[in-house]
Amino acid sequence: MEKIIEAVNVSYIYQTKYQKTQALSEVNCSFERGRVYAITGKSGSGKSTFLSLLAGLDVPTEGTLYIDGQDMKKLDRDAYRRKRASVIYQAFHLFPLLTVKENVMFPMQLQHISGKAAETRAEEYLAKVGLSDTLSGKRPGMISGGEQQRVAIARAMASGGEILLADEPTGNLDSQNEQVVIELLCKLAHEENYAVIIVTHNEAVAAAADVVYGMSDGVLTVVRGEIQA
Ligand SMILES: Nc1ncnc2c1ncn2[C@@H]1O[C@H](COP(=O)(O)OP(=O)(O)O)[C@@H](O)[C@H]1O
Ligand SMILES: [Mg+2]
Repeated sequence: MEKIIEAVNVSYIYQTKYQKTQALSEVNCSFERGRVYAITGKSGSGKSTFLSLLAGLDVPTEGTLYIDGQDMKKLDRDAYRRKRASVIYQAFHLFPLLTVKENVMFPMQLQHISGKAAETRAEEYLAKVGLSDTLSGKRPGMISGGEQQRVAIARAMASGGEILLADEPTGNLDSQNEQVVIELLCKLAHEENYAVIIVTHNEAVAAAADVVYGMSDGVLTVVRGEIQA
């Protein structure tokens, strides 16, 4: 299988006026499409920092992050974020004043897909995440947390990307909704060929992942799985 992302000796340092924090130290790993990855580790170990590099929000201080073999520093990172990599969060981050369907249409509108086509595709994505038509006209505040996270996943799919990044996606969900979201993320990887990368404390999420990485003081190790770049 193709490596879609490869980290080679990736380090990241937060430099403020008075202090330097080494958040990542020479991280080496790779990610393939069709697989679910969990990144576990204590609070402050560097997980979110790594996820933000994978999301193209910043670039490594040292080392190289390759996307399809291309150095992230040389990529158009705005286009990467718009079209290839989407992030979902613990707190869902849906647009509160847009309806469910409008939330899912939003990334397509950024890509100038016409209203009608975007609407049809939004309906397809909502069906894929198991949400019924009756929800599509509601605002996020009127639906449950589990449903909101499924809308966020549908919106991520609508960006057309093949990389789905998630920061504690089940952190706000009860165990039943947690299971639905886990199954959906696995389906995205195994049936739709996404690379799904999940930062999590949740044992059930880690158990469902194909590969588990552990982060400790900015150092990444393989906890379970065969891949190490
Ligand atoms: N914006 C920032 N400025 C300075 N230091 C930061 C910033 N964000 C995170 N850090 C530090 O970097 C380290 C890793 O943080 P983070 O990636 O958020 O860890 P995790 O997501 O595993 O909790 C921690 O020591 C944290 O205090
Ligand atoms: Mg974090």
